[in-house]
Amino acid sequence: MASTHGAKVLVASNRGPVSYEVREDGSLNARRGGGGLVSGLSAIGPEAGAVWVCAALSDADRTAAHRFEGGRRLPPEDTGGQRVRMLDIDAEVFSDAYNGIANSVLWFVHHMLYQTPLEPVFDAEFRRQWASYEAYNRAFAQALAEEAAEGATVLVQDYHLTLVPGMLRDFRSDVRIGHFSHTPWAPADYFRLLPDDIAEQVLRGMLGADRLGFLTRRWADAFAECCDALVGGLGGTRIGVHGLGADAEFLRERSQRADVKERMVALREEIGAAPDGSARRTIVRVDRTELSKNIVRGLLAYRRLLEDRPEWRERVVHLAFAYPSRQDLAVYREYTAEVQRLAQEINEQYGTPGWRPVLLHVKDDFARSLAAYRIADVALVNPIRDGMNLVAKEVPVVSDSGCALVLSREAGAYAELGDDAVTVNPYDVVGTARALHEALSMPGAERLERTKRLAAAATALPPTQWFLDQLNELSA
Ligand code: G6P
Repeated sequence: MASTHGAKVLVASNRGPVSYEVREDGSLNARRGGGGLVSGLSAIGPEAGAVWVCAALSDADRTAAHRFEGGRRLPPEDTGGQRVRMLDIDAEVFSDAYNGIANSVLWFVHHMLYQTPLEPVFDAEFRRQWASYEAYNRAFAQALAEEAAEGATVLVQDYHLTLVPGMLRDFRSDVRIGHFSHTPWAPADYFRLLPDDIAEQVLRGMLGADRLGFLTRRWADAFAECCDALVGGLGGTRIGVHGLGADAEFLRERSQRADVKERMVALREEIGAAPDGSARRTIVRVDRTELSKNIVRGLLAYRRLLEDRPEWRERVVHLAFAYPSRQDLAVYREYTAEVQRLAQEINEQYGTPGWRPVLLHVKDDFARSLAAYRIADVALVNPIRDGMNLVAKEVPVVSDSGCALVLSREAGAYAELGDDAVTVNPYDVVGTARALHEALSMPGAERLERTKRLAAAATALPPTQWFLDQLNELSA
């Protein structure tokens, strides 16, 4: 199936670098996304003729994919020149695979989010969705097989596409295949919640790759442990750890722009001053409204702080940015409502005419996030489990005068940033309240010193290098 004009480097991911929306007049508007893969792929230059294969995620995407399918590429003006093939997958198959299996099963397993004894239940509906997950993975494997030049390198991303390496290997024995997990990997005892045949299929699918990448040693070891328990080891597949870092150059430039400065002014206005006229302290968090990010316990800890340490009342504000995510899933909608309810409750309980203790923003605004990073005194990053967590790495890079980091020991970033953070157990609300107090009380000079060290650790592996390292390792 190899094409002589095929790509030498290919990336496959569920979410691609561009998404569409339909304008009122019916025309399509392309919105470009950022992130590590975008900058990584752009680093290899146009001569590699890299192709990115992704899925259409919405009706607008499907319209675009359908319209441009003949040319097999989205228009370069929509993608910033990147060669992108967006797969027009049947809406129901996609929803089963993405909402059903990827986000409600595999995501839940790796982040250990199930609330036993009610969940999980692997019934006939699960089996039906699993068949869609297979079909969706096969569509990717087929597209990659068509697009790849002889001996090409293919980098498959994340838990949506665990079966692709094995399937692609069957289509094309000549290509080099890598798979990278952006999530944690579940410990073997938890992974084995999955029915045995499904668990084995996931592992064997991934072991179809020549090399597997993880964000930390901890997740890589957990994967190896699962393979030992279920499929007799790793076979010939190699494993590597690549701790994706923050993009310092991009962040420093972006955070100095006028739109960020405008938002700093607006945020300072919203935060206000303490009754004695001094500036209020700010605790910031920025997340997708995601169960694993532990936003509710973060708010409970903040309430505990105000309860136990009345000296902070009127003198601190919690900026909580919780951006919409995966709203097709009821459990995410309920979680979003709970976050809003709790923020309001805290404001009603402790607020005064001149002080709103929690400023909750739910509309995604990157410039405002950067503005908050610049002015924050404390950043709260308390996930239950997290593959890496880039917020923990971005804040120290952007911070104007030092920001104390309260960090969950269950975030992948903890392996690199733990020494200079205030550590929390994400389930321990009282402990998290204590950590917030400690962070707020940290002397300015110490905070600045720690922030500098955090920034150095956070930027040790820039996205372009992260990507190139994987390419190099695969061809080694
Ligand atoms: C995590 C996953 C990514 C995913 C992102 C946003 O970081 O590892 O693969 O793209 O969440 O989630 P979404 O479902 O909106 O793509």
